[in-house]
Amino acid sequence: MRIREHVNLREYNTFQVSAHAAWFSEVGHLTDLVALLRSGISPMLILGEGSNVLFTANFPGLIIKTGFKGRSWQPDSTREGYANVEVAAGENWSDFVYWTIGEGLGGLENLSLIPGSAGAAPIQNIGAYGVELADVLSGLEAYDILEGKLRRLDTAECEFGYRNSRFKQDWKGRFVITRLFFSLTRENHCLHTAYGNLEVLLSTIPSEKRTPRDVSGVVTTVRRSKLPDPAVTGNAGSFFKNPEIGEDKLLSLQQEFPDLNYFPIAGGRYKLPAAWLLERSGWKGKQLGRVACHGRQPLVLVNKGKASGTEIVEFAIEVARDIRRKFGLRLEPEVNIYPPDRWPEDI
Ligand code: EPU
Repeated sequence: MRIREHVNLREYNTFQVSAHAAWFSEVGHLTDLVALLRSGISPMLILGEGSNVLFTANFPGLIIKTGFKGRSWQPDSTREGYANVEVAAGENWSDFVYWTIGEGLGGLENLSLIPGSAGAAPIQNIGAYGVELADVLSGLEAYDILEGKLRRLDTAECEFGYRNSRFKQDWKGRFVITRLFFSLTRENHCLHTAYGNLEVLLSTIPSEKRTPRDVSGVVTTVRRSKLPDPAVTGNAGSFFKNPEIGEDKLLSLQQEFPDLNYFPIAGGRYKLPAAWLLERSGWKGKQLGRVACHGRQPLVLVNKGKASGTEIVEFAIEVARDIRRKFGLRLEPEVNIYPPDRWPEDI
């Protein structure tokens, strides 16, 4: 195991911002991880592929990148037509999804092409095109830093919500996720095609003939057409979450904005597409300095040159303040900002 000093994180975050970690180590074995966790170095940060983080300052401690590899599946002997699948935290999420599709397994197709590592997926409960990780995850394995042992956690105790889980709340910093487990279908796949224009794009294939591969193919096409490739243009996907509001707020907004777009969710509440709020406020494609809202999906902030983390967070603050002024709504970052207090509480 190698610990490097004063490492530039530019190649370890998809925003491609420059910031330095005092120490950095990539671990591929549990024993190395445990040795580092017990080393007493502080602070520590666990990093996957850096696709949901914005560094606005140097990191004064040790960054551990999880490099655990491996994936496998076997038929579920207790459930006809199902497979038990597992993947190590350091595998690339999208490669893993395409591998399951190649193996003829169904369940992850809507989550094709999401950047990042498998181990990071449960933290923010990744989701796209009508499916969230929590819908298909059967459990996970994580190293419990507090108790000093590996634990198997079931889905219910992770308390998954919209881009949320206990790993972002009371379990923050407590676990290092090492493996994910899924129950996927081998036949009679249950395809989810109601979101956006997926149905339209699949219309040439009769519904009884559609396969997970077909759905994965159209999801990949839609993502490629709308979202910038982080390998080319620095970004971390949606920067903000879609705000959730109650009926009173919806009615008052509709008075002022009759063309307001919204989606009903559980508990009589509504989700507003932040992309719509941004487009309506003129942010779509707008650039200030070296940062912009993407021209095809304004919820994605892009690094147009060698922008620093500070420039990006200042741009995001300006966007959020504008949305607060115009709609009386709070935009909450979906991306993890380091240090967290860089995001003002009064927006
Ligand atoms: N819209 C606009 N203008 C635009 C784009 C979208 O008004 O330029 C409106 C439209 O009304 C559209 C709605 O926003 O119907 C939703 O747009 P989209 O389907 O692109 O989804 P989103 O809500 O903006 C979420 C996720 C994405 C995920 C897509 C597809 C969040 C924060 N983002 O975006 O996830 O890919 O749905 O399922 O929930 C990510 O988390 O990093 C991410 C990219």
